[in-house]
Amino acid sequence: MPVFRDNNRVTFAGEFAIADLHRPLACLHQAVQEAGYQDVVLDFGSCTAAFPGPMLALCAQVMKLRASHIDFDLVLPTDLKLSRLFQNANWAHFLHPHVNSPSVFKGHTQIPGTQFTTSSDQGRAVNRIVNAILGAIPNIERDDFAALEWSINEVTDNVLVHSQSPIGGIVQVSTFQKNRKRVEYIVADAGVGIPITLREGHPEITSDAVALDRAIREGVTRNKDVGQGNGLFGSYQICSHSRGLFQVESGYAKLSFTEKSGLHISSERVPYEGTLVVAQIDFSVPHLLQEALKIGGKIHSPVDFVELHYEQDDLSHVLFLMREEAMTFGSRVAGAPVRTRLANLLRMCPGHRIHVDFSDVPLVSSSFADEVFGKLFVELGPISFMQRIEFRNIPLTARQLVDKAISQRLAAGGAA
Ligand SMILES: Nc1ncnc2c1ncn2[C@@H]1O[C@H](COP(=O)(O)OP(=O)(O)O)[C@@H](O)[C@H]1O
Ligand SMILES: [Mg+2]
Repeated sequence: MPVFRDNNRVTFAGEFAIADLHRPLACLHQAVQEAGYQDVVLDFGSCTAAFPGPMLALCAQVMKLRASHIDFDLVLPTDLKLSRLFQNANWAHFLHPHVNSPSVFKGHTQIPGTQFTTSSDQGRAVNRIVNAILGAIPNIERDDFAALEWSINEVTDNVLVHSQSPIGGIVQVSTFQKNRKRVEYIVADAGVGIPITLREGHPEITSDAVALDRAIREGVTRNKDVGQGNGLFGSYQICSHSRGLFQVESGYAKLSFTEKSGLHISSERVPYEGTLVVAQIDFSVPHLLQEALKIGGKIHSPVDFVELHYEQDDLSHVLFLMREEAMTFGSRVAGAPVRTRLANLLRMCPGHRIHVDFSDVPLVSSSFADEVFGKLFVELGPISFMQRIEFRNIPLTARQLVDKAISQRLAAGGAA
């Protein structure tokens, strides 16, 4: 893709893919450090496609430069769909916050990029992501889900523990594709990078490429008092075993695993001043992720979101608070992830009843009621539905609508 600089203007033409990551960084370096510009225009006017990996990397670098008083102007893509993606994914906000307010995207196909600078930010961002995945991908096994959550936690934690990034990190989960059980998450920071931190404890490491090679090995950490060296190792294992993708850009090096070409580590001419991790995980083969997550030769079973968020301490039941499960209760689009999440929880917690609690839910529409409960009733069958689902604090109107949705499904012969 042609990315080029003309004075203080960096132009992105065509597709901005991960292979082009370094070009705009080189342009920024030339414009700011060499030519001394204090304001830079990022021109995406003729950009036709942009991928989350390189976009988050660029956003992190731009945010760092802005913190050191470089101004940025943004020209959004003329392609309307792409321009909307810039807004929805929060890229427009990160690149030019004065003009672009944070994303209010409420869809369920992706989660906007989220900046985190503290561990409570990080915890919230990870919870939001795993909750969205729980609602987006049907039939996930609990141990696989826990392994994915573990990995996102480790990679985002690394930003706070190691990176010294002045802007913290940015995390994003990209589009869930219909009928594919594949999740991609991306974490970018603008810190000192893996080669520099790892050399603290391993001065024998010469090149940046060797540093990345070492960073994904079991037990390799910059400091045994700070870490155990499992985060990148386990994440790499999970991605590679599930036939996903794993890519790290840091300093003058790049590490990439793809199913087709295996593991490759190479040196780069232009550095990435920070760390970018792109991880794709495939859930298609059940229990594979947990298999892959072996630490010290033993399968590692992390505490998961389902346990912390849904299961009650006495393990008597699972509490599903409707008011926290959707932002609106009016449409099928809002209902679909709620049903997927309920169905996942039913599978993940086989011995438990689920208390579906309607406290503080003002109003549900018939289409929402049908999308969640009408369809779930058909999926499970009457007996399982009655045995497993218990409604709590449900207002009369909502109750009538749920009843009606279920009876209509029954009358229609139970077609989902
Ligand atoms: N975002 C990052 N920025 C800088 N260094 C990092 C980052 N992520 C990982 N590292 C380096 O890679 C090493 C291995 O990371 P990891 O496998 O998560 O183990 P641990 O965090 O337990 O040390 C870290 O000790 C650190 O030196
Ligand atoms: Mg770590």
